[in-house]
Amino acid sequence: MITIRVMTMDDYDAVLALMNATPGISIRDADSREATARYLQRNSGMSFVAQADGKLIGCVMCGHDGRRGYLQHLLVLPEYRRQGIAQSLVQRCLSCLEALGIGKCHLDVLKTNDAAARYWHGQGWQRREDIDRFSFTRPGNENA
Ligand SMILES: CC(C)(COP(=O)(O)OP(=O)(O)OC[C@H]1O[C@@H](n2cnc3c(N)ncnc32)[C@H](O)[C@@H]1OP(=O)(O)O)[C@@H](O)C(=O)NCCC(=O)NCCS
Repeated sequence: MITIRVMTMDDYDAVLALMNATPGISIRDADSREATARYLQRNSGMSFVAQADGKLIGCVMCGHDGRRGYLQHLLVLPEYRRQGIAQSLVQRCLSCLEALGIGKCHLDVLKTNDAAARYWHGQGWQRREDIDRFSFTRPGNENA
């Protein structure tokens, strides 16, 4: 049976292991234990994990800035894919955002991750052609 529940810091090591094992997911300083704890505290109850057979098999992290929602790190272990687990995880996040009155959500996909782009497109998410993301990195924070 697959269970979806709110992610806590007790899940951190397992989530990081999932991320490490998944091509197409980049791990940054922002994924440190300290930064993740801050993120989960700021966006309480909005990130989720999926469990099956006594282990963690999927996750998604969600937050907001008061106006827009943001999704990160949606992933499901290969042997559990195509069962609607990602869809359930994302739905939980979007419901949390909706409950806060936030009706728009963004996410980043590496330009090399064609499979993820196909997935999001298939789920009705719109690839933005009208905006480019600009990021400022303070010197010394190149892996932020
Ligand atoms: C993308 C990913 C999370 C999908 O997980 P999943 O649990 O297999 O997805 P679901 O079973 O919920 O799929 C939902 C729908 O998307 C479709 N889908 C799933 N993977 C797809 C893919 N790679 N390409 C196109 N469509 C896909 C399914 O067929 C299903 O469609 P349906 O509702 O019409 O049947 C998973 O493939 C993954 O972990 N990939 C690697 C990590 C990654 O790239 N994550 C995205 C980072 S932005």
